[in-house]
Amino acid sequence: MKFDTPATTNPIDRQRVVGKPHDRIDGPLKTTGTAPYAYERHDVFDDPAYGFVLGAGIAKGRIKSIDLADAKASPGVLAIVTAANAGPLQKGDFNTAKLLAGPEVEHYHQAVALVVAETFEQARAAAHRIHVEYARSDGQYDLASVRDSATPAKGAPNDRHGDFDAAFAAAPVKLDAQYTTPDQSHAMMEPHASIAAWQGDALTLYTSNQMINWGKGDVAKTLGIPKDKVRLVSPYIGGGFGGKLFVRADAVLAALGARMAKRPVKVMLQRPLIFNNTTHRPATIQRIRLGADRDGKLTAIGHESWSGDLPGGGPETATGQTALLYAGANRKLATLLAVLDLPEGNAMRAPGEAPGLMALEIAMDEMAEKLALDPVEFRVRNDTRVDPMKPDRPFSQRHLVECLRTGADKFGWRKRKAQPASVREDGWLIGMGVASAFRNNLVQKSGARVRLERDGTVTVETDMTDIGTGSYTIIAQTAAEMLGVPLDRVSVRLGDSSFPVSSGSGGQWGANSSTAGVYAACVKLREAIAAKAGFDAQACDFAGGRVRAGGESRDLADLAGDGITVEDFIEFGDLDKQYQQSTFGAHFVEAAVHGHTGEIRVRRMLAVCSAGRILNPKSARSQVIGAMTMGTGAALMEHLAVDKRFGYFVNHDLAQYEVAVHADIPHQDVIFLDETDPVSSPMKAKGVGELGICGIAAAVANAVYNASGVRVRDYPITLDKVL
Ligand code: MOS
Repeated sequence: MKFDTPATTNPIDRQRVVGKPHDRIDGPLKTTGTAPYAYERHDVFDDPAYGFVLGAGIAKGRIKSIDLADAKASPGVLAIVTAANAGPLQKGDFNTAKLLAGPEVEHYHQAVALVVAETFEQARAAAHRIHVEYARSDGQYDLASVRDSATPAKGAPNDRHGDFDAAFAAAPVKLDAQYTTPDQSHAMMEPHASIAAWQGDALTLYTSNQMINWGKGDVAKTLGIPKDKVRLVSPYIGGGFGGKLFVRADAVLAALGARMAKRPVKVMLQRPLIFNNTTHRPATIQRIRLGADRDGKLTAIGHESWSGDLPGGGPETATGQTALLYAGANRKLATLLAVLDLPEGNAMRAPGEAPGLMALEIAMDEMAEKLALDPVEFRVRNDTRVDPMKPDRPFSQRHLVECLRTGADKFGWRKRKAQPASVREDGWLIGMGVASAFRNNLVQKSGARVRLERDGTVTVETDMTDIGTGSYTIIAQTAAEMLGVPLDRVSVRLGDSSFPVSSGSGGQWGANSSTAGVYAACVKLREAIAAKAGFDAQACDFAGGRVRAGGESRDLADLAGDGITVEDFIEFGDLDKQYQQSTFGAHFVEAAVHGHTGEIRVRRMLAVCSAGRILNPKSARSQVIGAMTMGTGAALMEHLAVDKRFGYFVNHDLAQYEVAVHADIPHQDVIFLDETDPVSSPMKAKGVGELGICGIAAAVANAVYNASGVRVRDYPITLDKVL
């Protein structure tokens, strides 16, 4: 089904099942430890061997020699894979550095060997008996010192609109400030893990991956085997946040280890390896210049961002939202990329907007103060109905002002004192902060197979993944709504590359795109059922496990025969050329800063979101609250500390890389504006999973400023910075 005109009324609008706060179908499995994760697939392989990855001990250079003799003689060792014996390997399309180093080492903890043994402990012990001699080269590890060598990044905003320089120079009120955001790690609960098994020349990988079809392609490319010889299976995933968008060393090395050992091999990246072996969100330095007239209308908006990555890598696109969020005739955006020899940078939850808004939304707070305007009012005054850099292009939906006003009302914003450090309670300074949230709504082609079973139940199969977001549930809701059956009559099977290719989980496109694919397949199934019943498909009503038309009614089970199976996909035309599709929100935060110790506590927070139809208010709320918690970590804790001499992230485990948890924030709430977006898909839905992390860290920073009077522009805002 091609989606190229705005959606009209369709069966989803009935909202008998869709739009209801159903519990997650996979919830009991996950919370009782019975969801089979990749490393635990004892049901499919009886006798797997264990692989242990040895990471490089240098950040840049060459392997001079690897002596495997001691390791090979260790108890239980079955095979040792290195670049020297692995055969030719290509780099995957989605990898910047190779997943197996040698002889070149591109980054610290890049895999140099996989030891396969009968037990995990034997593999680990043997790995420590591999003797590697390195020739170390000099590398660049400090963003600030390579900043001046950065060049405009391809495909990223490097645009001008109007005459920024003149408008900024002429503005009666202006701000020119620099902000920094650190390197961050996804730190998902489930480490990257895979079990690989070969049957002849065909490979099956049970793994933990957000984008099954990308992964399948990259495994095939890396190993130089046909794509149809690779099967990826990833039905349950313990978090991804972008770190599992791409196959990593666990998958490729498990495949190589299994081939060499002639046994199924399971490989988990041990936690201390993940931070340097896999991807991370790159640090940024951002310069923001804002100019406004005395009425608080922005006349000049400049946003420059610097980040670094390995050669051939990409930037953190922190300037993206600045093209679209506020009105203003004159704009300058620059996204600059330098070469750094730190581990590979890549997408982490809301790449671009999350760190971009960490800077922009502090700048907006600073500017409001200069203008003596309320920060909510300042944002409202600079709302726009159209893409400011392409003024003939409207937003499909844009309810930023409603988000700000609703949030201000519900949060009790009127009690905020404009004068910082003016509210004290028991030694604590109390303040409130606000920030806008913005994240684009991307859409991706997505397919599904739907079957009406003999007993009238429905089965959906798609390679879509559920990374903890609720995909199983909203897909079941979609099929139940379309076919008029109760939710418990729908079975959903996900995360297997033998199923139709879906959008996968990334960029907050998964919920809308994958359910739209299921919608398309269900439209086809309704037609097939109607044909069997001799009904006109357009006139049919599907409800209560029956199909009705023209006063007649048939039971779905009676029509099913041996089962009716159809497959279809949704593909998107160029509506996104006519309309800018984005999601919006407003974050409100109350923070307390201790007057003597500088300890910072977030007391309560509220997000108001404008994101099209909310398919399941319960799972959507969980997504937004999770994102707000993650963003609070970004504001106050998260920071990969770079060893600038040796080029690695020092705090590479969960004891030292601190993240916020829900218990850190006593009160969190989310309001979804009641809306549908007919331009987004037949579901009229958009994503929220990344919207929730956009802007929240700046709202925390602004609350800390309002509480304490200390403006911190370098994240994370640790207590030493407010003293
Ligand atoms: Mo997201 S960072 O595209 O998983």
